[in-house]
Amino acid sequence: MVAERSDAFVFFGATGDLAFKQIFPALLGLIRDDGFDVPIIGVARSGDLERLRERARQSVAAAGAVDSAAIETLTSRLRYVKGSDDDVETFHALRRELGASQHPLHYLAIPPALFSEVVTNLAASGCAAGARVILEKPFGRDLASAIALNATVHEVFDERAVFRIDHYLGKEPVQNLLYFRFANSFLEPLWNRDHVASVQVNMPEAFDVADRGVFYDQAGAIRDVVQNHLFQVVSLLGMEPPSGHTGEAIRNEQFKVLDSIRPLAPNDLVRGQYRGYREVAGVAPDSTVETFAALRLHVDTWRWAGVPFYIRTGKCLPVTATEVLVELQPPPRFVFGQPQPPDADYFRFRLSPDMSISLGARAKKPGEAMVGEAVELYASHQSGTERPPYQRLIGDAIRGDQSLFAREDAVEAAWRVVDGVLRAGAQPYAYEPGTWGPPEAANVLLRGDRWHDPAATPDVPEGTMPAGRSTPGIR
Ligand code: BG6
Repeated sequence: MVAERSDAFVFFGATGDLAFKQIFPALLGLIRDDGFDVPIIGVARSGDLERLRERARQSVAAAGAVDSAAIETLTSRLRYVKGSDDDVETFHALRRELGASQHPLHYLAIPPALFSEVVTNLAASGCAAGARVILEKPFGRDLASAIALNATVHEVFDERAVFRIDHYLGKEPVQNLLYFRFANSFLEPLWNRDHVASVQVNMPEAFDVADRGVFYDQAGAIRDVVQNHLFQVVSLLGMEPPSGHTGEAIRNEQFKVLDSIRPLAPNDLVRGQYRGYREVAGVAPDSTVETFAALRLHVDTWRWAGVPFYIRTGKCLPVTATEVLVELQPPPRFVFGQPQPPDADYFRFRLSPDMSISLGARAKKPGEAMVGEAVELYASHQSGTERPPYQRLIGDAIRGDQSLFAREDAVEAAWRVVDGVLRAGAQPYAYEPGTWGPPEAANVLLRGDRWHDPAATPDVPEGTMPAGRSTPGIR
């Protein structure tokens, strides 16, 4: 086991998109907030150290960084190894650059197809000894490739040195889902098949695949966000109370939920593709890759049997937001004559772009008649000071804390759910950009359930949300 703090940070794919958008800003944050002080070594095929420094400056500027001392520290600490991932000489050069480092952390910010080769070369050059490795998602393309990849990685790294990153787990509102569930006793009696009618996770995105055509056309919505980010959310919603507060206890329970989800049948899933997708650079002109997915999960546990868990996500939808809606059962009888409107009682967790929790209920309208109206108890937290997920997760990996990383068994369990439908493939339904996807998405809903379209911005009662503190309200 590698218990020590990592003493060097190496990132493969140093000139790539992920490094630009996430890794440089995360490293800057770690330098600024934690005094992160180890050598930082970028590995890439092209460029030189000066160009990498310039790219780091541009990256952090684009992320809004203004702290010139931290920026100077970041660029001065940067080192560079030029070479290709399939050339063991690159890795010998890396080992030399690592100098006295005994416990490097290697971040593979490269396409997953290259993971095996890099891991093998890390071992052959001595760079893997005493090291940890961060692997970007998607981890594999399907169940078989994930199992094979896990086997290759384990030839070199013990599971305790493997950090499969899923940035959703590093998000504050996702953490709050877990916290809220188990820090409040009032929830537990309701949180089961006796009281919950359905659970729904919506992750619409208003943007298209832009310049990610090559990547996206190899992935599609299911591999890109469902099998990982959204299943992580489902596992936190569905899990049993962990036996302790350690990361491992939580990961055990997350695994059990994923392991209990029935493999998807063809009619549990509706795929869509926005019109215009096939014209994107890097996308095959006859691509059948889905840019939209709506699905129904069966979580076959004592707690959830019979409660549908719906997921809906897609590109080019009307808004960008992520929301969970836990709909409660209606009362067994209508005491006030008036039939209960559908979806009257619910918990809503808004995960992005803002963070809030609401409880939807019915209350009496003022007046003589016993007539009700919808009200919402609303709590939000808008501090804006949370650590960005990549900063938090890289910091955890440096300390060797795996709590917020996907474990081998959980990743394989998640692939098992989608493996059959991925292999079977299917022609996606076309949808117009700016709509909520193909109307066929309604086919996965049971018993008159409906999709709940998240609002673009929080629908907050006026004057009840001063920045920087939790604000309960009623509306
Ligand atoms: C990434 C996907 O992992 O997550 C993207 O590759 C997606 O396609 C993104 O847009 C969503 O993450 P976030 O943090 O912007 O909600």
